[in-house]
Amino acid sequence: MKKLVYIFGSPIEQSLSPQMHNAAYLTLGLQAQYEYLKKEVLPAELSVAVGLLRGKNVAGANITVPHKEAVIKYLDELDLQAQKIGAVNTIVNNNGKMVGYNTDAPGYLKSLQYYNSFEPKDKKIAVFGAGGAARAIVYALAEAGAVSIAIGNRTKENALALAQEFSTIFNNVKLAGFALAEPAFLQEIAVADLVVNTTIMGMSPLQKTTPLKEISVINAKQLYSDIVYKPQKTLFLKNALKQGAQVNYGYGMLLWQGVIAFSHFTSLPLRKVPVNVMERELLI
Ligand code: ATR
Repeated sequence: MKKLVYIFGSPIEQSLSPQMHNAAYLTLGLQAQYEYLKKEVLPAELSVAVGLLRGKNVAGANITVPHKEAVIKYLDELDLQAQKIGAVNTIVNNNGKMVGYNTDAPGYLKSLQYYNSFEPKDKKIAVFGAGGAARAIVYALAEAGAVSIAIGNRTKENALALAQEFSTIFNNVKLAGFALAEPAFLQEIAVADLVVNTTIMGMSPLQKTTPLKEISVINAKQLYSDIVYKPQKTLFLKNALKQGAQVNYGYGMLLWQGVIAFSHFTSLPLRKVPVNVMERELLI
C-alpha cells in the first residue's frame, strides 16, 4: 500500500518540501511506496487534519507555519527535544500513534557541520530574533555545548524570556537577552564565532533590510548564518561576505530538517538519504 506524507501549513503553496521528498523517493526507487503532498490547513482545521494522519495509508507529516506549537496538543507522544523546544515540525504515524519530533534543531546543526565544518562546542554565539525558529536554534546550539549565546531581539522582553528559560535547562551556557541595536549586543556580535539571523529581516519582500547595520563589527574569522532562504543571498550574508566572513545559507537548514524528517518517515538511516538530490531541488 502506498503511504502518504503530508506537509500542513498556511500559506503552503510556496513550500519546496514536496519536490525535495518526492525527488528522493524517485532516486531510491520508492515512488510506488511513498508520495509527499502539501495541504493547506487553517488553524481551525488543524485537529481534523491531524486525525487524517492516523490512517493506515499515512506515514506522517511535516508541520510548518503557523502550526508548529499548536499541533502539540493533538499528539500522543513527544520526543524530548521537541518537548523542550515546544515546537514540532515532524509527526510520525507509529502504528496509529502520533509521535512528534523537532528536526529543525538537529537540522540546523547538520547544516553548519555539512557546509561550514562548524561545531558549536565551546563557541561564542550571537542570535538575532527570539521567536519560534530562534527557540529551536538556541536550544540546538546550547545542547551542542556553546559557551555563550547572546540573543538580540526587537522586543527585548522576548529575548530576556528565552535566555532565562533556557538558562535553567543549560546551566553551563551563558545566555543573555538584549535589544537589537543595544551597544552591549554589538559587542557580543564583535566577539562571536557564529552570528545567526532568525528574523524575517532580509526575506522577500524585506530584501533591503538586515538585522545588522553596523557592518564594521563583522570580521573575517566569523561565520554568519541566515535561516532566510529566499533570497538565497540576503543582505545580512552579502555584508558578511564583503567583510571576508564565512557564510551559511538558509537552504542548509531547510535541507537538513527535511533529510532528518525523511529518515523518520521511511525508517532509513541518515546515510541512505540522497542528500544531494534533495539539495538540488532547493537550488533549482
Ligand atoms: P519564527 O517561527 O519564524 O521564528 P515568530 O515566532 O513569529 O516566527 O518570530 C519572529 C521573530 O522575528 C521574532 O524574534 C520577531 O521579533 P519580536 O519578538 O519583536 O516580534 C522578529 N521580527 C519579526 N518581524 C521583524 C521586523 N520587521 N524587524 C525585526 N524583527 C522582526
